[in-house]
Amino acid sequence: MTDPAKYSSSRFEEFLRNFYSLSQTARIYSDSHSLVTKGLEKFSESINSCMANGSLTFKISNDQLYVDDEKLSYNRTTKNLFDNIIRYFAPRDLEGVRFLEDVRHAPAEEILAFLRLLDHSGQKPEPLAWLTDGLAAKNIQWVELLEKTEGPRDDRDSSSLDRAERLERARRDYTYTKASLEEVARKIKDNKSEIGIGKTVRVVQDMVTNLIEDDAVYSAISTLRVFDDYTFTHSVNVAMLAMCIGRRINLSRRTLVSLGLCALFHDLGKIEIPAEVLHKKGKLDDRELRMIQEHSLNSARLLLKLKASPDSKARILVPLFEHHLKYDLSGYPHADWEKPLTLFGKIIAIADKYDTLTSSRAYRRSLLSPDRVLGYMFARAGIHFDPTLIKVFINILGLYPVGTLLRLDTGDLALVVSSPSREFSKRPLIRVLEKDNEGGYKKREIINLDERDPETGRYVREIIETHHPAAFGIQPVQHIFSGN
Ligand SMILES: [Fe+2]
Ligand SMILES: [Fe+2]
Repeated sequence: MTDPAKYSSSRFEEFLRNFYSLSQTARIYSDSHSLVTKGLEKFSESINSCMANGSLTFKISNDQLYVDDEKLSYNRTTKNLFDNIIRYFAPRDLEGVRFLEDVRHAPAEEILAFLRLLDHSGQKPEPLAWLTDGLAAKNIQWVELLEKTEGPRDDRDSSSLDRAERLERARRDYTYTKASLEEVARKIKDNKSEIGIGKTVRVVQDMVTNLIEDDAVYSAISTLRVFDDYTFTHSVNVAMLAMCIGRRINLSRRTLVSLGLCALFHDLGKIEIPAEVLHKKGKLDDRELRMIQEHSLNSARLLLKLKASPDSKARILVPLFEHHLKYDLSGYPHADWEKPLTLFGKIIAIADKYDTLTSSRAYRRSLLSPDRVLGYMFARAGIHFDPTLIKVFINILGLYPVGTLLRLDTGDLALVVSSPSREFSKRPLIRVLEKDNEGGYKKREIINLDERDPETGRYVREIIETHHPAAFGIQPVQHIFSGN
């Protein structure tokens, strides 16, 4: 009987052989050359026979080759091929590539375009950035690039990571995404034309990979917000929350990436509004109000400056315009618009409103606790928000979202640190807080609100009231994301 591991190993070797040989042939010959067409046929066949679970990942780690995490054996027959591949990838700053399901239907000219871009990237000063921009410009979405990392790379799947490690990984995604968005915004401000978004696409792709494994961490991470750079932090929060909704309604991986990008760029138009208007505490005059209300339109206009294919721009353009329009179209910008909102527009409107209302921005008079924000939004289901998507959203966050401050019947203050796994359960995991000597709060133990007294069968603790943590000067990030 054939050993299944050996069998897949030889298929994987065959795939790598065809991949490498096609890349070499495409370098020399034109698309119509018989060697190229034959090479393409073999490449497609081996992709088809190797692809499982919607993707096929090839990577090089410590001079070893892996396909879908299976280490390929380095022996007399494979030695030459493996050495060539390692040499080929080294100057391209790539650890490997991941082919997605859609590669099966990719037109021949796209596959060849990818291989030629990959080839040319080796001569560029910033090969990876050049290659990702090139792929975005050609709208090639069936391949993802795996960046070479310094030091050991953490690519275990989330089932083998504990909570702290998963949070750390999400936190890294958060930082990278924010940095890449800031870079795009800086280039827009500097009035650069043809702004590459390859890096942003890549960080969003990474985030989607991690979020598909574990969306709970990502729905909680918006409590990481830093107050001084509201626009960027807000946009990353909205992207993460929007992708969590998209994940729950089973959007494809590729659609999730588009949704994430769209959400990330939804407030791009705000970078043109002077800070004194954007952060004004008093009432806005007509001109200022118009400036603010035009930002969604301006986000759509600025998107056109980004270097991406017309097709991918078209997909995220309309939702930018729609994100304040509201479900019943009563929002802004006022337009003779009778079409229902797009799915992305409806999702982003929910994520956007939740993040705005739960942020503790200085100009707002009262701070609603996160659970009350959900209540407020739920009361507007079918008016401002899509009623089904709102339910999905509450389902993700739980009735008491992470970061809600609770007053318990024991007199204790506690922060929600994790949503319960049961749908709509009212009993999350909480961190008890205690006053310190400096006017702040220090953390105590994490407890489960679900805990019952074994004798009476009653719950040990009940929630008396809920607050926004900022009302007590509490920064959730200090109590949620650090160790126990
Ligand atoms: Fe907005
Ligand atoms: Fe926003």
